[in-house]
Amino acid sequence: MQLLEERIKKDGQVLGEDVLKVDNFLNHQVDPDLMAAMGEEFYRLFKDANITKILTVESSGIAPAVLAGLSFHVPVVFARKHKSLTLQDNMYSATVYSYTKKVNNHISISKKFIDENDRVLVIDDFLANGQAVEGLLEIIEQANAQLEGVGIVIEKTFQKGRELLDARGIHVESLARIAAFENGEVVFVEDK
Ligand code: G4P
Repeated sequence: MQLLEERIKKDGQVLGEDVLKVDNFLNHQVDPDLMAAMGEEFYRLFKDANITKILTVESSGIAPAVLAGLSFHVPVVFARKHKSLTLQDNMYSATVYSYTKKVNNHISISKKFIDENDRVLVIDDFLANGQAVEGLLEIIEQANAQLEGVGIVIEKTFQKGRELLDARGIHVESLARIAAFENGEVVFVEDK
């Protein structure tokens, strides 16, 4: 998606070997016009899948997920993160390891908000090692809901998340695909 790639070039900051800071429009300050354009693009890509629900994880997935929900006119549910896994009968839960932050988070979604009639689109801000998405997939399985696809804002193709999802035959669409960071600059897949 050209608009997003231009914004990444303008405002993204490469940190170290493999992290892109985008707190100017996605992870801290949020650009609602850009989010709305991304929501429309996710709709164009998944409109034939009869989506009934969008799932994401707090906190940075919420903005793109809600604006996608506006395009699909379906509810958006965000998994909540918490440190310790206390037994909760009314929740579906999974454990997610964050490579970036080196902590285990438990994520959960109330049984009230997902069931076997749902056809789910997962939306997240980054696809890096794929742990957040895998956690959501576990929850979708627990609920016997149907996964229709995964929509990602920024994919880093050099980390293992995409491979994991492809191996499971999942329909993944990423709005920007980063092949590498070279000398502090972002190299997109199509420019490689
Ligand atoms: P995953 O996102 O594919 O699960 O991979 P990983 O375990 O590496 O990511 C852990 C956290 O770091 C996730 O946020 C993810 O969105 C974020 N992340 C991964 N790569 C980048 C990057 O290049 N730039 C930025 N800004 N974030 C990245 P989280 O722990 O779920 O936190 P939150 O910010 O959504 O609350």
